[in-house]
Amino acid sequence: MHELIQKAEQTHMLCQEELTRILSDSSFDKELFAAADRVRKKYVGDEVHLRGLIEFSNYCHNNCLYCGIRRDNKKVKRFRLSPEQIIDLATKAKEYGYQTIVMQSGEEKGFPVETMQHIISEIKMLGIALTLSMGEKTYEEYKAYKEAGADRYLLRIETTDKDLYHRLDPGMDWENRKRCLLDLKKLGFEAGSGSLVGLPGQSIESIADDILFLKEVGVDMAGIGPFIPHPDTPLKDAEGRAFTLSLKTMALTRLLLPDINIPATTAMEALIPNGRIIALQSGANVIMPNVTDEDHRKHYVLYPGKVIPKESVEDYRENIVSRITAIGRTIGTGRGFRGDFLKQSQAKPD
Ligand code: 5AD
Repeated sequence: MHELIQKAEQTHMLCQEELTRILSDSSFDKELFAAADRVRKKYVGDEVHLRGLIEFSNYCHNNCLYCGIRRDNKKVKRFRLSPEQIIDLATKAKEYGYQTIVMQSGEEKGFPVETMQHIISEIKMLGIALTLSMGEKTYEEYKAYKEAGADRYLLRIETTDKDLYHRLDPGMDWENRKRCLLDLKKLGFEAGSGSLVGLPGQSIESIADDILFLKEVGVDMAGIGPFIPHPDTPLKDAEGRAFTLSLKTMALTRLLLPDINIPATTAMEALIPNGRIIALQSGANVIMPNVTDEDHRKHYVLYPGKVIPKESVEDYRENIVSRITAIGRTIGTGRGFRGDFLKQSQAKPD
């Protein structure tokens, strides 16, 4: 096991069988996390990039069995922010110091391309980077977002086990999701993907495949988090909550894709109070604090236990900043593009 972890640290290559062996054995976890932490430091440095997250609509026409805002969850009070509200939140987020905004919503049709183009160009005028995370769209829609100025797009593959995907995401098509990711790459977005860990019926082998998929597609960012059962979904009695397995999957992703952005996901913090800080010490280099106002944030509940801070958006940022600096890390001063890390590492002699 020790040799395998060393091999991953040095070559950034492991096969499915090797990944499965590491994921199945808990006796070397500390060594794995330490290796991922070293690789993180070597390739993307000590900076933690903060992205301000705006949850701008919780309408969704999909019906994923695990997700709290699935179409059939009638308990959700649905909302859609107006373009002005979104631009206003982005403006405030910039004032607080965020250099990237992430706009996330359910998958829905309430924001036609022209509306998105307007929002994107207004936000880009603030001089910050913009990430979108609003699901599967056509090539033309993605192209219009890119031309309006969007920089990045996040779309998790959720799982590469197609049978499992089609069971948990009824009516959706795994191949189309992959097509979306390839289109995003082709269009020049920094493309993010990622997966859920601990889904009912998910095998360890398929988790290994998820990591290999991220490498094969060449994602620029990978968000990996534990599945947490939501009480108002069909999976309410499922087990989930696999913190350590998620952390290991994330750490292995760092070893195999050394120079990408990896967020310490909010779902990790929902399971363990210091979950995101632990993730930052096990390979992650990004945190996405919520900048949505409280009235709306409370209706955007994908899973229970989601950190809903009591303090203001501004104080919450300060709180996170102090926790990051307390572990000896610094706050990203640039916009934290993967392309920038690549340039830096090329400039530095090894
Ligand atoms: N537990 C953890 N993560 C979830 N997501 C959706 N539902 C859950 C859940 N119950 C994740 C999905 C989605 C992202 C925005 O949130 O991976 O892509």
